[in-house]
Amino acid sequence: MAVLRPIRPPERPAQAYSIRLMPDLLEDFSLTRHNSLGLPSKARYAVEIDAESALPDLLEQQEEDPRLYGLPRLILGGGNNVVLPAFYPGLVMRVTIPGRTLAGETGAAWLVDVGAGENWHSFVEWTLAQDRPGLENLALIPGLAGGAPIQNIGAYGLEMARFCESVRAWDFGEGRFVELGATEFGFGYRDSVFKQEPGRYLVTRVRFALPKDWTPNTGYAELAAELAQAGADKPTPRAIFDAVVAIRRRKLPDPTVLGNAGSFFKNPVVPAAQREAMLARFPALVSHAQADGGFKLAAGWLVEQCGFKGTRRGAVGVHDRQTLVLVHEGGGAAQELLALAAEISAAVREKFGVALEMEPVVV
Ligand code: EPU
Repeated sequence: MAVLRPIRPPERPAQAYSIRLMPDLLEDFSLTRHNSLGLPSKARYAVEIDAESALPDLLEQQEEDPRLYGLPRLILGGGNNVVLPAFYPGLVMRVTIPGRTLAGETGAAWLVDVGAGENWHSFVEWTLAQDRPGLENLALIPGLAGGAPIQNIGAYGLEMARFCESVRAWDFGEGRFVELGATEFGFGYRDSVFKQEPGRYLVTRVRFALPKDWTPNTGYAELAAELAQAGADKPTPRAIFDAVVAIRRRKLPDPTVLGNAGSFFKNPVVPAAQREAMLARFPALVSHAQADGGFKLAAGWLVEQCGFKGTRRGAVGVHDRQTLVLVHEGGGAAQELLALAAEISAAVREKFGVALEMEPVVV
């Protein structure tokens, strides 16, 4: 791996370059430690974006540097929701922008800002320490804060969409920073405008509005049971945080120990009539009513019923406690993982007539 300095296109005078601060451009950059699946991967070029101010310069450099001109770009945060190829022939932009700030208040809420490069779990813990509760149900979700709005992270009865006030991002289409608000997020279950328009935005900062009037969110059955066991009948935000951490530690593999990208499939939502028909054949079907009248099926249950719990296929497999999670033990490749995912999808379609949608972004 080599650090490359910007080279000067022949038509530009030297001093036009020397006054600009360019982030270091790295060649043949290994992404193996930058994706939670741990898939061996390399990028032709990579840069680290550790401040908003680095962006306009970098994009100008890409226009002018013959090595970078026209290359595809991949924006990478923690790499917790991507399946990377062995070689990415473009420019990877690693976002590491720091910052956690108490950003003021409205009548009803505390405003809290977080830089895209902050670790999500540490940020959640920090909000509690600052007496700004609300995000505790989202404890221990791996990854960086900038990824949170992209897939609208959600767990244990809460989606980040609920408290997301605004998102600051570079808009590659407009060539400027924009501040997106509630009407522009396009948030849905594991969905947002950032997912719908891939490559258009690079998220730099997320602002949350956390209600001053905090109420515990303990409707998720497994969380309620965990709290009851801990004897917390009037749980504090910290007790909820601890309970979520305990559940996740028990069920989900730690990506620093065993490669994984969390849930590999979304929970499919089916119309009420389809769920009725399924229940008649499979009385133990696990499902949850949705606001729109549909039912969300537990994909983990569907996959488990097809016999995949703990399955291994070479370097990849299905987790033995949460079947929705595919794992990679090292040395494998995206194709192996995607072949296993396809095998699982086909089996679920065959047995239940339901299509599974993959959650991670396949590059
Ligand atoms: N289930 C099984 N077998 C399994 C897994 C689940 O039968 O192997 C059934 C059980 O009945 C269980 C139910 O499915 O009670 C729900 O399981 P769980 O609470 O683990 O939740 P999930 O629906 O499988 C979703 C999110 C998780 C999130 C949990 C908790 C998606 C795609 N996944 O999983 O998110 O942590 O709810 O809220 O919506 C992630 O995205 O990486 C992730 C872990």
